[in-house]
Amino acid sequence: MKSLASTILVSSLSFPLLAGAQRPSSVSICDFYAEKLFGNNTALTQRLVQTHILNTAIIGNYTSPNVGVSVTGIAPVSIFNGTEVNLLKYFDAALYSTNDGKTNAGVAKLFLDDGGPTPISMNMASNGNVNSAQYILLTHVWEYFGVLLNCSKQGTDASSPSYAGNPSMYEVHKYMNLDPYEQGWFVRQLALAAASIGFSSEDTSIWFNTMTGLFSSRCSPPTVVLPGEPELQAICIHDSCPLAANANCALYAKSFAPGVANTSLAGNYTKTNTSGIANATATGGYIAPSAAVPSVASVAWKLGVDVLAAVLVGGVGILTL
Ligand code: HEM
Ligand SMILES: *[C@@H]1O[C@H](CO)[C@@H](O)[C@H](O)[C@H]1NC(C)=O
Ligand SMILES: *[C@@H]1O[C@H](CO)[C@@H](O)[C@H](O)[C@H]1NC(C)=O
Ligand SMILES: *[C@@H]1O[C@H](CO)[C@@H](O)[C@H](O)[C@H]1NC(C)=O
Ligand SMILES: *[C@@H]1O[C@H](CO)[C@@H](O)[C@H](O)[C@H]1NC(C)=O
Ligand SMILES: *[C@@H]1O[C@H](CO)[C@@H](O)[C@H](O)[C@H]1NC(C)=O
Ligand SMILES: *[C@@H]1O[C@H](CO)[C@@H](O)[C@H](O)[C@H]1NC(C)=O
Ligand SMILES: *[C@@H]1O[C@H](CO)[C@@H](O)[C@H](O)[C@H]1NC(C)=O
Ligand SMILES: *[C@@H]1O[C@H](CO)[C@@H](O)[C@H](O)[C@H]1NC(C)=O
Repeated sequence: MKSLASTILVSSLSFPLLAGAQRPSSVSICDFYAEKLFGNNTALTQRLVQTHILNTAIIGNYTSPNVGVSVTGIAPVSIFNGTEVNLLKYFDAALYSTNDGKTNAGVAKLFLDDGGPTPISMNMASNGNVNSAQYILLTHVWEYFGVLLNCSKQGTDASSPSYAGNPSMYEVHKYMNLDPYEQGWFVRQLALAAASIGFSSEDTSIWFNTMTGLFSSRCSPPTVVLPGEPELQAICIHDSCPLAANANCALYAKSFAPGVANTSLAGNYTKTNTSGIANATATGGYIAPSAAVPSVASVAWKLGVDVLAAVLVGGVGILTL
């Protein structure tokens, strides 16, 4: 368990050294790259920094600026550290994994309901339906990244609103039962996305370590990210996630793998080691693993992108580009 954290920390030093002026420590990451990449440091260009990082991390590198770093994105089924990861199934209503805030269990929810990848590849959140789940998800994550990246002008004009989502990352993700491979893969794509638009090696590592430190250890104590009260922030909450240094597991509910809502979409869905499948109607809220081994459906659902296997396997070298 500890090896995950140390692997990531060691590996994070191996992002490539990219050319360009050094960021003065008095200038935030967001402000620096808003100016450097988009010619001016405004609320709008700060929003563009957020947009390019998230959109690239979802669908892979798609546009300029790109300094020659290739990004696969989280959309395709991939191999991370020798294990298959398929994050799409949390976004396409394959699993009972969404916290809708009113059901005391995960629900299946389609987040790709307003254009899917096409508007994302045009720096947009969705085709423009501001009530769509896709629009709300992307804009909320952009806004949250603005907080994490210290965008100084966020919230000062309409082009870059303040974060409007749930302040607790645990609450948002708690029915997903995300494991270190899923979390590690997403964080890796987000770090690569930043590197691909021109973040320096040092700033890419800061970004990587910010995400890993806040969200990748289970039972982490309440932490302030947004202005206000501390909140539970652990996103990686599967039993196999590394335990936070000052863990307080009593504050977190026991986490169970989400049940399958759509077998053809869920495909080869397995959790490496979990305590059971969540089931709100079963005694204790879950079904033991032996009674609920997820199905291996047709492999046709795969998007055919297992090519990463060749470059991503290995231990400490997993983040070497
Ligand atoms: C550094 C890691 C991550 C960060 C900072 C992050 C951040 C966020 C934020 C800010 C939201 C919006 C919350 C809201 O609208 O209230 C969100 C939603 C979501 N995230 Fe993550 N996330 C991370 C990792 C992951 C991973 C690994 C997955 C797995 C696929 C994931 C899947 C989702 C989904 C499906 C939603 C929509 C949930 C909903 O609206 O109910 N996230 N995330
Ligand atoms: C930079 O942004 C400021 C504030 O929005 C604006 O007044 C100025 O004209 C912009 N400069 C350029 C070169 O776009
Ligand atoms: C992604 O980045 C790589 C490396 O710069 C480049 O070869 C490739 O053409 C890019 N892909 C797209 C779709 O922009
Ligand atoms: C399903 O995933 C497991 C774990 O990654 C892998 O060993 C197995 O080969 C996969 N099966 C199919 C049919 O893809
Ligand atoms: C944002 O600012 C805080 C406070 O100065 C700092 O601790 C943190 O590392 C910064 N985050 C990033 C991503 O630079
Ligand atoms: C499962 O997903 C497929 C593809 O989106 C869809 O055609 C089908 O109706 C879904 N089945 C159920 C039971 O929701
Ligand atoms: C799963 O993880 C738990 C907690 O770390 C451990 O007690 C259990 O033995 C593991 N089960 C399997 C099958 O690996
Ligand atoms: C929960 O378990 C009940 C009884 O076994 C079953 O009918 C139902 O489909 C399960 N629900 C989920 C979400 O797995
Ligand atoms: C990746 O694989 C290595 C070697 O098997 C292992 O030590 C490490 O913990 C794995 N990392 C993750 C994220 O599981």
